[in-house]
Amino acid sequence: MRSNRRGVAMLATLISVLACSPADEPTPPAAGQSAADRRAGAPGIGDPDFPRDGNGGYDVSHYDLVVDYTPATKRLDGVTTISAAATQELSSFNLDLTGLDVREVAVDDAPATFTRKGDELTVRPARAITGGTPFTVKVTYTGSPKPASDNANLGTYGFIPTPDGAFVASEPNGSKTWFPNNDHPADKATFDFTITVPAGLTALANGEQAGRPTTSGGRTTFRWRERHPMATYLATATLGKFDLRQGSTAAGIPNLAATDPRFKSSLDPLYTLSGQITDYWATVFGPYPFSSTGGVVDDYSAGYALENQTKPLYGGFQPDETIIAHELAHQWFGNSLTIKRWKDLWLNEGFATYAEWLWAEHKGKKTAEATFTELLKRPASDPMWSYPPGRAKPDDLFNQSVYTRGGMTLHALRRAVGDATFFTLLKAWAAEHRYGHVTTEQFVALAERLSGKELDALFDAWLFQPRKPA
Ligand code: TRP
Ligand code: ZN
Repeated sequence: MRSNRRGVAMLATLISVLACSPADEPTPPAAGQSAADRRAGAPGIGDPDFPRDGNGGYDVSHYDLVVDYTPATKRLDGVTTISAAATQELSSFNLDLTGLDVREVAVDDAPATFTRKGDELTVRPARAITGGTPFTVKVTYTGSPKPASDNANLGTYGFIPTPDGAFVASEPNGSKTWFPNNDHPADKATFDFTITVPAGLTALANGEQAGRPTTSGGRTTFRWRERHPMATYLATATLGKFDLRQGSTAAGIPNLAATDPRFKSSLDPLYTLSGQITDYWATVFGPYPFSSTGGVVDDYSAGYALENQTKPLYGGFQPDETIIAHELAHQWFGNSLTIKRWKDLWLNEGFATYAEWLWAEHKGKKTAEATFTELLKRPASDPMWSYPPGRAKPDDLFNQSVYTRGGMTLHALRRAVGDATFFTLLKAWAAEHRYGHVTTEQFVALAERLSGKELDALFDAWLFQPRKPA
């Protein structure tokens, strides 16, 4: 689902079909000719900073993931069925997939040929897919998933085997380490998960369980369903030994906390804080966008957390209220409202960081104003001031400036427009783009519209200049 753009892409397809006189029709390519075939879907979705991430020519609406995993052998057997719509005529199209052996590909149930090159899986259906039409692609694959760790600044991410299972945290482009997909947030989709593991282990994916787990032949199958659109980097299938606590928040949102046995003492605090914070954010940001909340603590010492949709994942530590506040704020900012290109990452991290300050303010610990004032004392030579957070750099995407100076941008805005307008804006932003895609330009436009103020200078100084704002 590419909200907003979908209709435009469809229209563009229609126009190009209408404009195409018989004389313009591409000559059928000779056998083996593909590079020059303009009916081939692009190998990237069009994010200039990540030219090979995602793919062009289609729009995914749903992923049906069937995964069988055995921690002892680290072997994964998978079948991914993707429902998509072609946004152009497609003689071939790409999926993103790293490693793993592809056994079989079928398009609309007919065998398709495929080739692999780097992280690109190119699928050539027996017959070209007509632009504007829906299709399914089913990929059967197997192998031992390896996490991504190519980029030093991104650390290790994707499908990470642990002694008792796997820790699955895929931002920004690591979901291709465990299933074939259109690996870019510009294409969100709903997900079904069917995950089979040795009996005694638990598999935790996004959304809610579709029925009770079933066990046969010493293996247990878990079924999960995320029925709201989700970016691929938020998909998880974290599995292993877990203790669970289930219930609902005071406001009635289903709540599930899961902790690795090593973090059993974190189960109750995680459950309680996740519930309280989810409910509080709903009063500040507007209705919770998804059908359940909670969190997972695994024994992999990532030292970080990821806002996996409905189930933030904490890697190897007991999460405190600050980080829970951060990851749950992402359910609105990042997960429900999703960036179209990675350079706008401050819309995720600046907002989630500001939420940490709002939580401290709510708890009477420290006002956001005090946090802002303190950070503003950093000397002009501090590296935060030379990194403009409004344009996250591909080789340093998660720079501290994107978080901290991004959060400060929101506080500078709050000072300029006043509390009433600022908090109306936060709710309006979340409501207007619920389940959709967002850009920085859209946020600036909404802030100007609701405040009636010209805010270009403020946003330019805070987001785009490589120096400390005056
Ligand atoms: N979005 C995460 C946060 O701020 C940080 C993060 C970036 C991350 N890339 C990741 C976490 C990869 C896990 C894996 O909370
Ligand atoms: Zn974050």
